Amino acid sequence: MITRSTHWAIRICLGVSFVFGLGPSGAQSQAATIGQASPINEYSAIHHPVVGRKGMVSSQNEAATRVGVEILKQGGNAIDAGVAVGLALAVTLPRAGNIGGGGFMLVHIAEEQRTVAIDFRETAPSLAHPDMYFGPDGEVDNAEYRSTHKSSAVPGTIAGLAHILEKYGTMDWAELVEPALKLAREGFPVTQDLANNLRASKARLTINPVTASIFYKEEGQDYQVGDIFRQSQLAWTLEQLKTHGPRAFYEGEIAKRLVGGMESHNGLITMEDLKNYSVIEREPVRGTFRDFDITAMSAPSSGGMAIVQMLNILENFPIRELGYGSADAMHIMTESMKLAYADRSKYLGDPDYLDLPVEELTSKLYAKHLADGILMEEARASDDILPGDLTPYESSETTNYSILDEEGNAVVNTYTLMASYGSGVVIEGLGFLMNNNMGNFTLRPDIPDPFGLMGSADNQIMPGRRPVSSMTPLIVLRDGVPFLLTGSPGGSRIITTNLQLLVNVLEHGMNIADATAAPRIHHQWYPDRLQVESGFSPDALRILEERGHGLSLSAGMGSLQTVLFDGDLYYGYSDPRRPGAMSLGVQGQGGWQ
Ligand code: DON
Repeated sequence: MITRSTHWAIRICLGVSFVFGLGPSGAQSQAATIGQASPINEYSAIHHPVVGRKGMVSSQNEAATRVGVEILKQGGNAIDAGVAVGLALAVTLPRAGNIGGGGFMLVHIAEEQRTVAIDFRETAPSLAHPDMYFGPDGEVDNAEYRSTHKSSAVPGTIAGLAHILEKYGTMDWAELVEPALKLAREGFPVTQDLANNLRASKARLTINPVTASIFYKEEGQDYQVGDIFRQSQLAWTLEQLKTHGPRAFYEGEIAKRLVGGMESHNGLITMEDLKNYSVIEREPVRGTFRDFDITAMSAPSSGGMAIVQMLNILENFPIRELGYGSADAMHIMTESMKLAYADRSKYLGDPDYLDLPVEELTSKLYAKHLADGILMEEARASDDILPGDLTPYESSETTNYSILDEEGNAVVNTYTLMASYGSGVVIEGLGFLMNNNMGNFTLRPDIPDPFGLMGSADNQIMPGRRPVSSMTPLIVLRDGVPFLLTGSPGGSRIITTNLQLLVNVLEHGMNIADATAAPRIHHQWYPDRLQVESGFSPDALRILEERGHGLSLSAGMGSLQTVLFDGDLYYGYSDPRRPGAMSLGVQGQGGWQ
């Protein structure tokens, strides 16, 4: 058996020289490490980030990005902009931007040199119970589970945005609702992205007549590129929020309509559920990778722990010398992914209902033990990997946006409706889509979730509980200052998408544009297959197959929205995998913005 250390010893003895970090652009090989002469924006790169002098907004929708930049230009901070962008996306990116869902944010407060993790994840309604999606035949009723009023958990988005504004913002709530309200009331030109996406989602979005009446024209025709898309019911909701404040969602007129809709369609959310919803400030998960401090989302998101665990494993290997896209680097990353997802399946749950072994999962010693078990010449079958014993180590949509301001305040928000357009249900008179995030609970430990992920009894449905998530907003700090912000949609692939961005920038020295564009891989333990985007070398793929990896070609994974600050300039890059995204810098006096 060739273990990791003997493998490197043999290679070095044989005098095999390592290939030096040739990335997809070929521009990475020269990359001195970040922090020295930097590859942050090399002229020779193939893809280039956008540059700002006073701040940066990166989101999956151009109109929403412009709203954020406008707030920063008016003197608002990143938190103010984060609230306005979150609300605007609910209007302009209805498949994922939301007020009927929930998510996670990392907020960095420059003055206090502190990063907080904001948990505004949806909660299971008080009437929810573990068997609620099983029919009399003992089978899961997939329609109930995915596409009905009953598939929604109690939404957290409005509470989350209101929370960060109250604690860390500078502007008035009403001022920040206004841009979204204007977009809903006056409408905006339909982009190609929206037109195509609505056309493709027609079967799901016409099940519920209220939803159909909003997203298609009167006779059911499709919106065309350039048509003005107005949302009058959503404008009513936003007007309520603007005039009566965020509590209108949880106790006021919006709450009444929402609960009325639930009552008449077998949904579970009650007035009490809405009134009792609360945002939780948590300690982020922290780790280090080489010289960088990693700050990531804590449970009930699994993402932060998995990312830190995988980075800890990767630190034991010369990934940079092996080179981006080399079979060895891909092999090591894949094996690390399997290990982290196996642990995710066993240990993750709502931290308010169980003790999570955070320190153990993120310990360097545990990672070293896992790294030692990786065989270089052979893929381990998922069946041979069990979640680790931690005892010896005790001591198809979501969206992300990243915003950094001139003072160094930052917001990275990943929020979701779960599926694209959530449950597909719009409650009469409210105009926004409800989530189907009950789907992130584990129905039974032997039943995978809609992303194929396995979970434990600690993630089964229970009133008030928050389901485990993969959403992973990330902030990398250098000397206590935000250096890199990123996050992505992609269901179970969020974690590995974010990981690869970090490895590409922090290890391979790519600029954020090349790092984002570079093809990605994904393994989640089960199903036991390595998903690969197109663009990898066939030679590397052949070697991986020879080592026993079952490969499957995947469509584009994720949609990273990334900001990097080099101490002087702000860089932004929006993943080209989803059309319509945009990063835009704030230029300040004499600039072109
Ligand atoms: O919390 C989660 O992990 C899922 N609800 C995320 C869903 C998602 O990313 C769907 N999209 N692409």
